[in-house]
Parts: sequence; C-alpha cells; structure tokens
Amino acid sequence: MPRKPLIAANWKMYKTPAQAQEFVKNFLPLVTNHERDEVVLCPSFISLSVVIAAVTGSGVAVGAQNMHFAEEGAYTGETSPLMLKAIGATHVILGHSERRQYFGETDEIINKKLKTALQQGLVPIVCVGEVLAERESGRTEEVLLRQTRGVLAGIGAAEAAPIVIAYEPVWAIGTGKTATPQIASEAHEVIRGEVKKLLGGGVAENLRILYGGSVKPENASALMSETEIDGALVGGASLDPQSFGKIVKY
Ligand code: PGA
Repeated sequence: MPRKPLIAANWKMYKTPAQAQEFVKNFLPLVTNHERDEVVLCPSFISLSVVIAAVTGSGVAVGAQNMHFAEEGAYTGETSPLMLKAIGATHVILGHSERRQYFGETDEIINKKLKTALQQGLVPIVCVGEVLAERESGRTEEVLLRQTRGVLAGIGAAEAAPIVIAYEPVWAIGTGKTATPQIASEAHEVIRGEVKKLLGGGVAENLRILYGGSVKPENASALMSETEIDGALVGGASLDPQSFGKIVKY
C-alpha cells in the first residue's frame, strides 16, 4: 500500500479566529473532493474551535501546534490532549524547532508528549531537523539519529502506526532556502533507516515522513515527486488560501 501523503498547514502565531474562518471559507472550494492527500490545518489554540466548525463535512482535518504531556493538572497556560480531543482536533504537531529553540523543549519532553498523543488517539506530527551549524559541520546524520531515537524512546511497534515524522531542517524554515529534493530524501532515508532498526521494517515502510522548510507552490511538486517524501509541513506559504491550495494540488 503506498503511503497517503499528508499536507499540513502550520499557521504558527498568525490569524485571529475571524481571519482563520475567512481562510477556510476561501480554501475549501479549492480542495473540494481532493482525496489524494490528507489535508490538515493547524491554527493557534484560540482558533481551533472555529476552524473545526468551519471544515465540518469537508474532509479537511484540524490539528494543534503543541500540547502538554499530561492529561490535566496544575500547568498554567497549557493545553491538554483531552481538551484537544474534546473539541474535535485529530492531529498535533510536536517538537517543532521553534518549540525546541524558544520554549526549551527537549527530545525527552517531546517523547512524553508523543506517548500521550498516541494514548489519546491523536495523530502526532513529530518534528526533527538539524540547525545550519550542524549541517555545515557534517553532523546532520548524527543529529537526526539522536532526535529520532530520543523522541521514539520506549515506544513499541504495536502503537507506532499513527506516528508521522516531519523532517524540518532549521536553516530552511522561514528563510526561503528550501532543501533540495535530494537533500530532503537523504535525510528521510536516515530517519526511516533508524525507525526500521527501532521498530521494524513494517513500521518504517508505512511511516509517513513529511518535509518542511520553505515549501511553496513553486517547489512543492519537485519535493513531492520524491518517493521518500510523503507530504509537507508548510508554514509561511500556508497562510494564504490560494498558495496553500496550490501546494495541496501540487
Ligand atoms: P516555513 O515553515 O514553511 O515558513 O519555512 C515551516 C515550519 O516551520 O513548519
């Protein structure tokens, strides 16, 4: 069975609820009956409910950009996976490089979040990727192996099926510098190879690995035509319905 591509919009800290709703109104007609890819919108927490209501019946799914690893508790300002499920979110981005860089998230924390997301039946989109200095000093593979092992620690093959990994080289995020299809494919092979060692060939074969980092309408089809690339996690170019629509229709 070929892997179904997943294309996710990461809106980061952009769009009020009204703007998010407006996006959906303009976006849905562009992807009517689009079944080739799984399409997921990830607005900020505050816009999740309006976006979930607006996409009802369309086949487009909605995910959060983060969550806490606990089901509930005294964690001021945090959002629990139970709350996400209760409002109808189905996916969650975990360990985005901005969470790692600005909010101190480590592989250990991301691993805890991943375990909770799986227990709760949310589809986790777990991010890994090297920074520029790591690539330039030839440490990309080492970083990808460390992050892949770290986020997957203690997770068994039986529960791993829903996991989606997003390879996002940090030097390509929001910079306009896209990894070439070849660079992305090589990184995906490293990740898939490690998942095979950790969780077996079946899990590795079915694992969807997305590419993220300056994906745009102009480069989407070249990236997506690589057999190793199973979709995209799109930041800047997902904020405009026309632009994201073109990416989905690569
Ligand atoms: P970008 O962001 O598409 O704006 O580079 C990607 C991401 O951070 O997920």
